[in-house]
Amino acid sequence: MTATFFTFLLGIATSIIGSIIIMGIQAYHKKKEEKRLEAKCNVAGNYLTYFDDEIEGVYVESKARAILNQKGKTISGESKVLYRDSTRTWILTGEIIDDRFIRGVFHSDDKTANDIGSFFFEINKDELTGGWMGFDSDKKEVVKGKYLMKKMKGTRKITDYTEHDYPNIHTIAEQRLGSHYLDSLFESLKTGDNSVFCKVAIIDEEVVGFGIGIVKEVANLVDELAVTGTHKTQLLERLKTIKTIGFLKAVAVSENHEKQGIASALTEAVILEFQNRDIRNLMSFSWKRSSGPTSIGILKNHGFKELCTIPDFWTEDSIRHGYDCPECGVPCHCTAIVFHKALRT
Ligand SMILES: CC(C)(COP(=O)(O)OP(=O)(O)OC[C@H]1O[C@@H](n2cnc3c(N)ncnc32)[C@H](O)[C@@H]1OP(=O)(O)O)[C@@H](O)C(=O)NCCC(=O)NCCS
Repeated sequence: MTATFFTFLLGIATSIIGSIIIMGIQAYHKKKEEKRLEAKCNVAGNYLTYFDDEIEGVYVESKARAILNQKGKTISGESKVLYRDSTRTWILTGEIIDDRFIRGVFHSDDKTANDIGSFFFEINKDELTGGWMGFDSDKKEVVKGKYLMKKMKGTRKITDYTEHDYPNIHTIAEQRLGSHYLDSLFESLKTGDNSVFCKVAIIDEEVVGFGIGIVKEVANLVDELAVTGTHKTQLLERLKTIKTIGFLKAVAVSENHEKQGIASALTEAVILEFQNRDIRNLMSFSWKRSSGPTSIGILKNHGFKELCTIPDFWTEDSIRHGYDCPECGVPCHCTAIVFHKALRT
């Protein structure tokens, strides 16, 4: 009886140990396969994405910022569309097949929207090329288009300004916005003036851009801007119901790092800071240049609406503070577009 029971126990113990060993071997092989795939087809990262889309009946190339995570062959992530005024985010899930392709599905993060679809990519080094097809629940029809994702390199982060960043952001400001343009604001940052804040973009430990926000009373801001005559009246009239405003003074990115969504990320961080400070109305100016990049598209993508256009916007200010416009020198005769954004309470 005892011997039989002992044999029975031994049998169970052997089966358990055997199962554990098999599970261990399977887990080891699974991990090894995951590591192999992650090394061979490393698709995790931040992407600039471009896709065909239909907006108000017209086919256009839309842009989105996407992040992909990877665990072995399993892919998850999200894609935030940079439509004018849209904050729509698509949740992506998929898998790598044949070490070469990704297939998956997407759905909107908006629980009230029933839009759903699938995507397919070929993995080409740092680019994913393919297409998407989805069901548009508003129109009740299937829509489709091309889909391209370009991987952005480097570890990127947006941080709060510290005094160590000053030499780098000063250099970027001088090169991109003109000598002395931000001198007085840099002084405010140095003295720890709480109404001025700065967000800094860093890629692989290198400072590559910054965005500056100021909290002001509308009347003081308009006075300081050196806007005069009818433009001043016009601006004050447009802003008459607002007392305190969050002013996105400037965003600048070093030339080597443009077109990677850095200004967009900085704009987002500045808006969030205003939101955290309970500021409900934001204003910004975009530099209307004859050549070169501007922030017009970025502001519109972040829900800013055009208020008015003011010629010779910086003329008086550039004479007063002696700054040298990279576009037209001293005095500056550039035109500004005034933008406003109301934040939801
Ligand atoms: C204007 C400036 C700030 C833009 O910086 P940037 O980092 O190149 O800007 P972004 O990469 O965020 O956006 C540039 C374009 O790429 C697009 N983009 C951003 N992220 C993207 C993504 N993930 N996928 C696809 N496109 C993307 C933006 O929509 C934008 O396109 P649009 O202008 O057609 O709308 C920069 O050129 C600069 O410093 N210029 C000099 C100073 C200046 O003019 N500052 C603004 C006035 S204060």
